[in-house]
Amino acid sequence: MFLRQVWVLLHPPSSLVIAARKGISPPIGSVSQMAHIRLGKKEEGRNPLIKDFVPLATLDDLVFGGWDPLSPNVLEAARTCGVLDEKDLAPMAAELEGIVAMDAVFDRTWVSRLDGVRVKDLASKWALTMALIEDIERFRLDNGCDRMVMVWCGSTEAYSEPAACHETVDAFEAGLKADDPAIAPSQMYAYAALQSDVPFANGAPNLSVDLPCMLELAKARGVPVAGKDFKTGQTFMKTLLAPGFKARMLGMRGWYSTNILGNRDGEVLDAPENFKSKEMSKLGVLDTILQPEVYPELYGNIDHVVRINYYPPRGDNKEGWDAIDIFGWLGYPMQIKVDFMCRDSILAAPIVLDLALFMDLAHRAGESGVQEWLSFYLKAPQQRGESDIEHDLFIQQTKLKNTLREWMGEQPVTHSEVG
Ligand SMILES: NC(=O)c1ccc[n+]([C@@H]2O[C@H](COP(=O)([O-])OP(=O)(O)OC[C@H]3O[C@@H](n4cnc5c(N)ncnc54)[C@H](O)[C@@H]3O)[C@@H](O)[C@H]2O)c1
Repeated sequence: MFLRQVWVLLHPPSSLVIAARKGISPPIGSVSQMAHIRLGKKEEGRNPLIKDFVPLATLDDLVFGGWDPLSPNVLEAARTCGVLDEKDLAPMAAELEGIVAMDAVFDRTWVSRLDGVRVKDLASKWALTMALIEDIERFRLDNGCDRMVMVWCGSTEAYSEPAACHETVDAFEAGLKADDPAIAPSQMYAYAALQSDVPFANGAPNLSVDLPCMLELAKARGVPVAGKDFKTGQTFMKTLLAPGFKARMLGMRGWYSTNILGNRDGEVLDAPENFKSKEMSKLGVLDTILQPEVYPELYGNIDHVVRINYYPPRGDNKEGWDAIDIFGWLGYPMQIKVDFMCRDSILAAPIVLDLALFMDLAHRAGESGVQEWLSFYLKAPQQRGESDIEHDLFIQQTKLKNTLREWMGEQPVTHSEVG
């Protein structure tokens, strides 16, 4: 098997894979590489690594590519972002420098805080999108790729609602030709990927493959999609803790979340229209976990507030504070404080790797359209049909592992005492 992939540039995933290949560090945080999966009954003792159980591409199979309006190559991007120290970058510097960014489709209307310089200069959105399709094809030929996956790791775009041009593939193509202002760059990348039969996962909170036209195209071309917004720091904590409170039937009165973040992501999110995309993606999780409509006396009156503040001294080392107000019997209040001093991109890189490998696996398994079983990795997961979105991390993990078991002809594990 020989998988070669194209990714919109995010330097941490490529660094993570190169460091693992060189034996510098195992890919800590990657479920596909490090987690085991139980098969059959506990007493059977069958517990292989996921990567040995399902036919995933190996890390040696991967090549990286992408577009960026600012950084000429991944090494420069890594230095600008300051996630890894120079001593950790040094052994991989040559390889990272060799991953050269293609000129981006970029529009400041959607990311007002960045001023793109390595940008395609073409007359229409249609021409720009065709240029992306050509880039993908050139990359495929130059690198001898058998298969590709695209993971959107670009900046969060300004909040927007679906418009008429997003309703069908025909309407979207007409919109590209008419330079419809409702079409954002990330949507042009998504269209280019799907038209090239490349699975697409969206790591940002803005609209892209969660649009009717993209779902129609993904189905028509038989290509998997997933989104949106990597579940890394505070929302990861929230979807760990909230299921626990609910499991014990403890009430909740409020959850106040605030973050300070000093990287480029934080700078982009400092613009109110971009923050709104993030806020919408972060706010959704509590309601679906706690089900206030089923438990009104416990969860019917919750104040849920999310803030992000751009604070340059912290760089990529985000600090997320949560003040959680819960209550017990007779309504007695209790408080829980969480202070998560995390490293955003150290948490995000293994998610990008797993999404790419699992999206490729899904494609080979004949899957197309929304991959709900990958919600485990996402803050605002897309779902098939009308059912409620599942945010509980433990249910998401069960769904991911049972999907793999079923694909490989194994029984789902229910943890039941019976049978
Ligand atoms: N890093 C994380 O932990 C994390 C977690 C959850 C979600 N996300 C989301 O992932 C995205 C990337 O996060 P990040 O921390 O790497 O941000 P970043 O600012 O470090 O990197 C984003 C990159 O995208 C580039 N870009 C912007 N518009 C582009 C376009 N039209 N085409 C190609 N490239 C474009 C920028 O130049 C920049 O290099 C953001 O939307 C962020 O909200 C990141």
